[in-house]
Amino acid sequence: MHWTTDRSPPSVGRVVVTTRTRSPIRSNVGLKAVMAVTGILLVLFLIAHMLGNLKIFSGASSFDHYAHWLREIGVPLLPSAGFLWIQRVGLLTAVLLHIWAATVLALRARAARPVRYAHRKKVRGSYAARTMRWGGVIILLFVIYHILDLTTGTLNPVGDPSRPYANVVADFAPQRWYVTAFYTLAIVALGFHLRHGVFSALRSLGQQTPRGEQRARVVALVFAVVLCAGYLVVPFAVLTGLVS
Ligand code: HEM
Repeated sequence: MHWTTDRSPPSVGRVVVTTRTRSPIRSNVGLKAVMAVTGILLVLFLIAHMLGNLKIFSGASSFDHYAHWLREIGVPLLPSAGFLWIQRVGLLTAVLLHIWAATVLALRARAARPVRYAHRKKVRGSYAARTMRWGGVIILLFVIYHILDLTTGTLNPVGDPSRPYANVVADFAPQRWYVTAFYTLAIVALGFHLRHGVFSALRSLGQQTPRGEQRARVVALVFAVVLCAGYLVVPFAVLTGLVS
């Protein structure tokens, strides 16, 4: 019998054991660190993107100028849009690593469950874990739609990448209320995802006493609400005619 395992003792009776050393990154702690580091990078992007979006309130030329400036960051050291491409590769890598680590951790947690449920219970896993999974899927679908909408312009009524203000205004026009509804759903899902993610990260960083957990809960909630509000204010400003 040949037995490959990570946890078994070096030899058991006559069983031949091959110990495979798991790289530290693939340990549970390593995977959680991958989730935290990639999560922090994504959160930094979300804060910067939200602040950039708020420039819509300073008018069309200011917003379009800002979008143009994004393409010129680092020029002449970098080619035009070079920074944007570095950011794209960085974000995609962070998203893929985040999903990979989450999937491996979830599969391990499931494998560690001693007995499968005989009847499928209504509530399987914690509320937070279930919303993290489905929230993650909604956010991923949203980002794909969002890129086709506001980056490439493929699904946008104006669809001119050089006029982001006009694209945003056309996007959330009252007759396209369903687009605002979809954005709202995705951003609320993002809010739940962030609340749990930030709470978990703060707890891992040492907030483990009941008082610390309570503090982490409040910080995570405030952060998620502020970020959601910062994003949602843009489509609702267009929907209500405040931005036109
Ligand atoms: C209502 C809220 C939002 C508005 C109005 C908005 C607006 C925009 C606009 C105008 C662009 C194109 C920028 C440009 O090419 O100059 C863009 C790109 C992008 N947005 Fe958003 N966004 C919103 C929410 C989000 C959210 C919640 C996420 C992530 C979960 C997100 C992720 C991205 C990404 C990844 C890009 C592509 C950046 C690139 O070109 O590399 N956005 N957004």
